[in-house]
Amino acid sequence: MSPLADCKRHGVSTASPPSAYPQLEKVRPLDDGVRVSQSAQFDDLLTCRLGEGRKAVEPCSIVIFGASGDLTARKLVPALYHLCKEKQMPPAFRVIGLARREKTDASWRDELRSALNEFSRTKPVDDQVWQDFAQHVSYCQGDLTAAATYEALEKKLVSFGSEPLRRNLLFYLATSPSQFGEVVEQVHRAGLLHKVNGEGWQRVVIEKPFGHDLESARQLNRELTRYASEQQVFRIDHYLGKETVQNILMFRFSNAVFERLWNRESIDHFQITVSEKLGVGQRGGYYEEAGALRDMVQNHLSQVLALVAMEPPVSLEAEAIRDEKVKLLKSIRPMSPEDVARQVVRGQYFAGTVDGESRPGYRQEPKVKPDSNVETYVALKLLIDNWRWSGVPFFLRTGKNLPLSTSEVRVQFRPTPHVLFAAQCGQKLDPNALTLRLQPNEGISFRFNGKVPGTSVAVRPVRMHFSYDAEFGAYTPEAYERLLLEAMAGDATLFIRRDEVETAWQIVDGIRRTWEGKSLSNREFYAAGTWGPVAADDLLAQSGHAWREPVVVN
Ligand code: BG6
Repeated sequence: MSPLADCKRHGVSTASPPSAYPQLEKVRPLDDGVRVSQSAQFDDLLTCRLGEGRKAVEPCSIVIFGASGDLTARKLVPALYHLCKEKQMPPAFRVIGLARREKTDASWRDELRSALNEFSRTKPVDDQVWQDFAQHVSYCQGDLTAAATYEALEKKLVSFGSEPLRRNLLFYLATSPSQFGEVVEQVHRAGLLHKVNGEGWQRVVIEKPFGHDLESARQLNRELTRYASEQQVFRIDHYLGKETVQNILMFRFSNAVFERLWNRESIDHFQITVSEKLGVGQRGGYYEEAGALRDMVQNHLSQVLALVAMEPPVSLEAEAIRDEKVKLLKSIRPMSPEDVARQVVRGQYFAGTVDGESRPGYRQEPKVKPDSNVETYVALKLLIDNWRWSGVPFFLRTGKNLPLSTSEVRVQFRPTPHVLFAAQCGQKLDPNALTLRLQPNEGISFRFNGKVPGTSVAVRPVRMHFSYDAEFGAYTPEAYERLLLEAMAGDATLFIRRDEVETAWQIVDGIRRTWEGKSLSNREFYAAGTWGPVAADDLLAQSGHAWREPVVVN
């Protein structure tokens, strides 16, 4: 059961607040004008502690396939180390790295330690925590296609001398996607993965990309579910592990004020931006195959869209939430090739500067074809054919080498009726906007109009900011910490279900097919360091809108 569900089970007291309540009025202005409560009682009374009563994580072994790769060093091991530091790991656990290169336990630990020094989100690395953690880490060398590798793995698991460490297994597939099917079959043949009613539990965590189109995703799903049931397959989208992405649900469904406005009556349109300052860099080979549509839209942006737009789930159970996400994705209006031409813009960066640093054009990046038409930017207008969102456009954009690294959802409300202020100010009266800042400077901003102080009557937009940092301090766990913990606990809420991944592919496949064989036009190129191609501005202009610059909070 998800921690969200725990909240529901424990419930929140509805009794009248005791005498401490009046203290809620005490507020302290912060430098940026935000006022927060100073009363500790406020938190104690009204905090629904979501983690309490969550399913205890049982002792288990985590087997990482593809352990020599970047993901292990940069994300997985730092996440496991932090879980140890936060005392979230089960009472007994082992981490086994499996890869082809020759290494000893000691040499692998040394490598991981250096990587941790570099990539840990907290520095310096706590030596005592590391020593404790490293004792549980070992390496198993082998070829992933050879049965002997899995026999060696089995021996290693048995050598721990503990039934739970041998039976409760989290297989983390950080390999190339072409090996997913093989690894799952081999662990099954070695008697390490039981589909139904086996002893203990076994789960398979799959990294993206999950296929490269609908057909390959279906094929992969078939291969995986031959040896594991759907409940055992945990497909990762690391955006779901981000605190602020999870907060979308909390924000929407625990606040009556906003949810009441969350429909076509009040909202004019949405702008979902995931922009990156980084270029493609050394990932040209992968990017030539993927492009921004597969790399970002099929997964991260679709997930954010689903959370922002889905209906309230019937409960906070994983399946109930995932049902609603799938329902939403299925309500996205399919696009004909003509619709794609009108509603989807691709772009590719040419040489420019980002933060004063010169950047090569995409076609000059290593492993990229000099005449490549692969998109490093996508902007699209999606329409959702359901009762709530009929007629409300959702504009999504993502790109590399843009001026800012930021992810946000901007909810643009409808303008006021054309009387009073609107009649006099016209376009100058800014409609309200709510921005969910997913990263960085995680928080929420609300933009509304206020009177400019003074004797003249002037109105201008002002902002109210909520910042996670100011309210809760700087603690923000990495997405992988949360995801690994949930996978160990067997909670699938933050993972992608089979029908979800397939539906998302269906949406992007139609777009890809329309682009096939078509060269980029001049209006689809953008200089590195700018906000994308002119065609992306045209896309919004057609509906009488304009992209808003992401909110920057210092
Ligand atoms: C990955 C993509 O899934 O997400 C990358 O493959 C992208 O191209 C990254 O840079 C963005 O993630 P984040 O967490 O940095 O926003």
